Amino acid sequence: MRFFSSLPFLSAVLPASFLGNNDDAIKPLTISAQGINATFIGHGARLTHLFVNDRDEKPRDVVVGYDDPAQYLIDTATSRTFYGSIVGRYANRIKNGTFAIGHSTYHVPENEHGGLNSLHGGTLGYDGVNWTLAHHSKSSITYALLDPSGSEGFPGVLQTYVTYTVLANPARMTARIVSIPFDQATPAMLSTHIYWNIGAFSQPTVLNDTLHLPYANRIIEVDSLSIPTGALESLIYPWSDPVSPLNFTSPKTIGAGLSDQCGAGCHGIDNAFILDRPTFAAADDTTLPMLNWYSPDTGISMTVRTNQGSVQIYNCVGQDGSVGNKASQQQSGVKTVNKYGCLVIEPQQWIDGINHPEWGQLDKQIFGPDTGVMQNWAEYEFGAY
Ligand SMILES: *[C@@H]1O[C@H](CO)[C@@H](O)[C@H](O)[C@H]1NC(C)=O
Ligand SMILES: *[C@@H]1O[C@H](CO)[C@@H](O)[C@H](O)[C@H]1NC(C)=O
Ligand SMILES: *[C@@H]1O[C@H](CO)[C@@H](O)[C@H](O)[C@H]1NC(C)=O
Ligand SMILES: *[C@@H]1O[C@H](CO)[C@@H](O)[C@H](O)[C@H]1NC(C)=O
Ligand SMILES: *[C@@H]1O[C@H](CO)[C@@H](O)[C@H](O)[C@H]1NC(C)=O
Repeated sequence: MRFFSSLPFLSAVLPASFLGNNDDAIKPLTISAQGINATFIGHGARLTHLFVNDRDEKPRDVVVGYDDPAQYLIDTATSRTFYGSIVGRYANRIKNGTFAIGHSTYHVPENEHGGLNSLHGGTLGYDGVNWTLAHHSKSSITYALLDPSGSEGFPGVLQTYVTYTVLANPARMTARIVSIPFDQATPAMLSTHIYWNIGAFSQPTVLNDTLHLPYANRIIEVDSLSIPTGALESLIYPWSDPVSPLNFTSPKTIGAGLSDQCGAGCHGIDNAFILDRPTFAAADDTTLPMLNWYSPDTGISMTVRTNQGSVQIYNCVGQDGSVGNKASQQQSGVKTVNKYGCLVIEPQQWIDGINHPEWGQLDKQIFGPDTGVMQNWAEYEFGAY
């Protein structure tokens, strides 16, 4: 696409510390523990490979991406898929690219739908910049980003650290994002943007896999541009007719959950599921399984836990087979990333909540020097049977 034609100009006006002009931005770095390894690059603080064992104890790469890390620079400048990256400063959509904090109104780039909304942090989001490597050990890696005041129109300096860790018995990966505003109140809603396929491309689609969202009792209703209308829709006690297929509170196949509630011309899943923790649990409880996914092809299961209030799930409705899989995945039989060929899982807070104070979510999305910090924590636990 068109987003990065102005990069030479940007590099003239933004400090080098933000652009991270280091040649290591696409150097792959791996962390490992028994039964799991994960590889990252600094460009977008991005997960590029994640190997876990299938039911035959064969390691399988369960995330979408490229073998050649240089391809991510091309992706950033063209299709901007967000494969495996961090998205920010504000993930997902902001209606009209506009929000208010106190008496100040801010405008950020409206980089989607012909200028009707902002998506994933604007024109140069956190997916497209080179993060600084802060620390790397055998099982853990941390990238840092100092985002200057006014970048992409957001107020104030924001320092972010993202730490990925892998652990054994059971094999799991944690992603922890911490964002610290230094001087002004700012929206801060960062997320990971990993495209998963726990069947490791044994099948052309993931539609036959089983998905279970035990606490996803509601979704955030969106309009034809996938921007929240303000309504929150119950999936378990619907007042709407017909009943939404998006009720995954009991396990069912992904294919049984496709709906038209994902924007104009879309039939699939691209929705923010609200994680309604039970009344005995803390509001940000991290012990409950929020998502369970099973692939009958590899036998791999994945369980997600998070402190976030919702999870955006996108079942690759817009993928069309034009991008190839990584070489190790092609050995499974499927050569390309197809429509419905993956699931993006983005643990995050309620989308566009900064424009819906009536939801009572502002203290989870707007942070300043006089508040707590933004923390997005998620764990991906793997099994095979
Ligand atoms: C990120 O680093 C790569 C490789 O060094 C470089 O080509 C690219 O221009 C950098 N991107 C930005 C936004 O600075
Ligand atoms: C990660 O594990 C896979 C499967 O065992 C292996 O092929 C690959 O070399 C490992 N990656 C690194 C960088 O150790
Ligand atoms: C959308 O944002 C523009 C500024 O970018 C503003 O002039 C306009 O009033 C906003 N429209 C709505 C409907 O809020
Ligand atoms: C889906 O999985 C079931 C049970 O494993 C199998 O019988 C069926 O053939 C699969 N269907 C497709 C389309 O893969
Ligand atoms: C949603 O699923 C739950 C659990 O299976 C069920 O109790 C409830 O009736 C379902 N609601 C609708 C509207 O399908």
